[in-house]
Amino acid sequence: MPKPLMHLAQFLVHGPTYHSLAMWRHPKTAAAGFDWSRPELYQHIARVCERGKFDMVFFADLNYVSDTFTGSLAPALRNATQAPEHDPIPLLSFMAAATTHIGLGATYSVSHQHPFHAARLWATLDHLTRGRAGWNVVTTLNHNQSANYGEEMRPTDERYDRAHEFMEVCRKLWASWDEGAVVMDRAGGVFADPEKVHRIEHEGRFFRSRGPLNVVRSAYGGPAILQAGTSGKGRDFAARYADAVFAIQPYLAGARELYEDIKRGVVAAGRRPQDCKLLFGVQPIVGASRAEAAERQAEHNELVPLEGGLAILSGHLDFDLATLPLDTIMAHRTEPKLQRMQTRYRSMTGELLTLRQVALNHGQSVGLPQMVGTPADIADQLEAYFDAVGGDGFMISPIHSPGAIEEFVDLVVPELQRRGRFRRDYAGTTQRDHLLQDT
Ligand SMILES: Cc1cc2nc3c(=O)[nH]c(=O)nc-3n(C[C@H](O)[C@H](O)[C@H](O)COP(=O)(O)O)c2cc1C
Repeated sequence: MPKPLMHLAQFLVHGPTYHSLAMWRHPKTAAAGFDWSRPELYQHIARVCERGKFDMVFFADLNYVSDTFTGSLAPALRNATQAPEHDPIPLLSFMAAATTHIGLGATYSVSHQHPFHAARLWATLDHLTRGRAGWNVVTTLNHNQSANYGEEMRPTDERYDRAHEFMEVCRKLWASWDEGAVVMDRAGGVFADPEKVHRIEHEGRFFRSRGPLNVVRSAYGGPAILQAGTSGKGRDFAARYADAVFAIQPYLAGARELYEDIKRGVVAAGRRPQDCKLLFGVQPIVGASRAEAAERQAEHNELVPLEGGLAILSGHLDFDLATLPLDTIMAHRTEPKLQRMQTRYRSMTGELLTLRQVALNHGQSVGLPQMVGTPADIADQLEAYFDAVGGDGFMISPIHSPGAIEEFVDLVVPELQRRGRFRRDYAGTTQRDHLLQDT
């Protein structure tokens, strides 16, 4: 029986660093002369990934410059720790205009806006992209972001309870125009049938909304929903709503546990296991030979500053790591905030890591496993991870941009296709079509 096909997505940030803090300083990024602030770069990336038949390009998004490490903004600014970070949403329609098939995903937090705004924005993007938009629903990572919206950071459970209601309101608004509501009867003078457009009259714990939405019903089933939280409540949220989950699991046993748990939840929520795909983050470093790939890994990793790693990790944990010695074994710490990234505190084989190691890994790749070697080696490593975990695919994070994305598409994708592990063409045209194309 043929093995199921992998799904591939390209990780992006609308800024100078993605997962790698070395990216903006990398000689290949500098030599390209095609800076992160040029919108044409993102159209180019979308075209390259579409040529590679990727499921989607995907933007993370944070709304802050972090002061968590040492209480000062200086470490984050010096090291460009995912700062600056411009809004990715306007880029989606810009990239859509340059492509026809590839999915276009971006992160949009539900913790600061009203669901009416989100429902309208994502319905419009779904319409503009003809069903290629994907909304990564997050609940906000730390106090830096809450402070920018004049709020206190709410506890995780409350954030997710609010997120559930947020999605319910969006769904009601998306359904507030029945199928066939737009009749466009020019002769009779009727644009929409008033019987087929409804108020929603939502009165909940967190939100009130009258409706209807002033965007017509989607012809594509609405935007794909993506998700990236891994707490119990985060997994429940994924199980109910997500078409795909972005996960970072360098430790294989942890990846398998997460995979099985989310699929169990999806089935318990009345959906089919294949309706929610898990995409595991990886950072490939390709070389013509193993020696060249190892050199490129060393060149990249040496450009990662420890201070930057500590700053980005502190921000992601919402915990000032300047308070801990660098040789702390992170898995031994009991502070609640330090539990969120337990899976990053071990190597792929399970070895316990010190704060210095975790911070450097975080600066290199935010904990994504680096896969290093020739195109055939990288394909071997992707296959091994996929087969050990059970599926479903990968979020590819480059070490320089542009350049690394092109190498992956031109060298690794054909290798995966030759092995029958990745699609040779799209079977459909929407984001959800791609995520459901398994053979
Ligand atoms: C792999 C991964 C990527 C994430 N990316 C973002 C992001 O781009 N923006 C954001 O605000 N939060 C992001 N988050 C935060 C989560 O969506 C979530 O709000 C947070 O992790 C708290 O939920 P949890 O305890 O369920 O993980 C990410 C989380 C994970 C695990």
